[in-house]
Amino acid sequence: MFKELILSRRSMRKFTCEDIEESFMDDLRICCYFSPSSRGIRGYKIIFVKNSTMLGDLSKAKKGAELLQGAKLAVVIIGVPEKTDVWIEDCSIVASNILNLCEEKKIGACWVQIRNRFHTDDISADEYTKKLLKIPENYSVECIIGIGKRAFIPKPYNITDIDKTMFSDELFVE
Ligand SMILES: Cc1cc2nc3c(=O)[nH]c(=O)nc-3n(C[C@H](O)[C@H](O)[C@H](O)COP(=O)(O)O)c2cc1C
Repeated sequence: MFKELILSRRSMRKFTCEDIEESFMDDLRICCYFSPSSRGIRGYKIIFVKNSTMLGDLSKAKKGAELLQGAKLAVVIIGVPEKTDVWIEDCSIVASNILNLCEEKKIGACWVQIRNRFHTDDISADEYTKKLLKIPENYSVECIIGIGKRAFIPKPYNITDIDKTMFSDELFVE
């Protein structure tokens, strides 16, 4: 049920040594390709990284990327600004769909932000990632989703946690 999936999905940053099944890779490709995108342009490219040395290098892209070191798979979501001006939205929907797919399969996943983040003071996380993965200059890395079998089952959200001041009917309420 969708409500339960939404409540139980939590970011997972600790993974077991178990590999990801090939059937899950098929699910991932379907999830990425058929995600909604502006005018159906699909302003993104995807790289699947399983090589442990490369995962280790990606984990150094920025502070907060360390979880990629222990992940079994990194899904690198790359925007194609030449195709569409809303590549950030297209990429973000793919990322969000992947997180929900992972939850449906009870596989751990966490979003690692790359766009607008820094590797060092003068090297962006985007530049660092593009150099590692041989991504041409005219592309932009939005994020990397770290994926692996969950090391533990995270505590789900509780429906009573909703702060209702977020919502209003008809007109904006401060
Ligand atoms: C746009 C975005 C960027 C994020 N970047 C990172 C990140 O770089 N590193 C990380 O460990 N988690 C990252 N996260 C995961 C959030 O920290 C996490 O979703 C948030 O704390 C809520 O926890 P939950 O996912 O368990 O609901 C990001 C999530 C989003 C949506």
